[in-house]
Amino acid sequence: MPTIFTPRADWWLRGIGGALIAGLVLALGALYYYASPKFTRVGYAPAQPVPFSHSIHAGRLGLDCRYCHVHVEDSPHATVPPTQTCNNCHTLVRNTDPILSQVREGWDPDPRKADAKAPIPWKRVHRVPDFAYFNHAAHVKAGVDCTSCHGPIAQMDVVRHAEPLTMGWCLDCHRHPVSTEQKVNPPQSCQGCHR
Ligand code: HEC
Ligand code: HEC
Ligand code: HEC
Ligand code: HEC
Ligand code: HEC
Repeated sequence: MPTIFTPRADWWLRGIGGALIAGLVLALGALYYYASPKFTRVGYAPAQPVPFSHSIHAGRLGLDCRYCHVHVEDSPHATVPPTQTCNNCHTLVRNTDPILSQVREGWDPDPRKADAKAPIPWKRVHRVPDFAYFNHAAHVKAGVDCTSCHGPIAQMDVVRHAEPLTMGWCLDCHRHPVSTEQKVNPPQSCQGCHR
């Protein structure tokens, strides 16, 4: 067998080969990490089953957020309104428009038929994982505005995920809270949010 590579060149070639493989593994890892929902959820704006527009209802009609998100001030969850809230108006307003048929069918004023109705299957836009604790009431009471975390909802026709809602993002504000209250002390320790 004639020697093609000196032992030293062989050592170098193995080194380069190893580095290439390690580089490829790193690149794939980075692709997987940055393409994960954490980095792609800003801008997420799923089409909803009924084309409900915040820009019409909260913007042009000027309805208060709490008219529909009734629990936002006194509970961890803001919650999305039941169809009945929509029909406070839509039994009268645009009450033959096909765009609202699912809203009309989702609610019947006759209480004997009420349980036959299915809620509108709204698609969830914002979510923090179960292992992190989040509470709307604590923030709203401390004077943190909805727009700090959800962007300009009152101008949106379709709700769009505006902020990353990652741990780093939560902590950025907890270190320098944007709040109208004077004395706030948001948790920065792990147990504050991971209970
Ligand atoms: C007339 C009722 C109504 C009013 C008023 C209203 N909303 Fe909503 N909101 C809804 C409904 C219905 C949904 C679910 C459908 C959707 O996402 O568009 C929703 C969804 C949302 C979501 C997304 C929920 C998710 O899935 O993550 C946010 C955030 C939100 N509203 C904030 C606001 C804010 C802030 C205001 C006040 C500026 C407001 N809403 C006023 C009815 C309302
Ligand atoms: C306070 C009264 C009120 C409530 C409550 C209300 N709406 Fe409306 N909605 C209106 C009015 C008024 C219009 C008509 C705006 C126009 O035609 O310019 C409208 C328009 C709409 C439209 C038509 C939008 C378009 O593009 O033409 C949809 C769909 C709709 N509403 C869905 C809902 C849903 C779903 C809810 C409950 C989550 C709801 N509305 C709650 C008053 C209300
Ligand atoms: C400090 C940031 C912050 C503020 C302020 C805030 N939200 Fe949220 N909102 C969130 C987060 C985070 C979620 C996801 C919660 C989860 O998965 O449990 C969320 C979810 C929601 C949802 C989906 C349903 C739910 O309860 O999870 C609605 C509706 C909503 N917010 C409305 C509002 C409204 C209306 C206001 C203002 C009155 C508001 N939010 C203020 C961060 C915020
Ligand atoms: C724009 C500023 C801001 C953002 C963004 C924010 N917070 Fe807060 N947070 C506050 C303020 C202000 C308080 C109230 C502190 C007080 O009352 O002393 C608070 C309080 C809390 C508390 C303590 C409330 C209680 O019930 O014990 C928790 C837990 C919390 N935040 C979790 C989160 C999480 C999780 C996120 C991200 C999803 C987040 N926060 C994003 C400003 C913010
Ligand atoms: C202000 C609230 C808050 C505090 C304080 C906090 N976390 Fe988190 N943490 C979160 C939220 C929200 C998530 C989910 C982030 C997401 O979904 O992208 C998270 C996610 C995580 C994850 C999962 C990996 C990741 O990055 O998504 C780990 C691990 C973690 N936290 C550890 C810690 C440790 C350790 C501490 C203390 C040094 C800590 N956290 C303090 C809110 C907090």
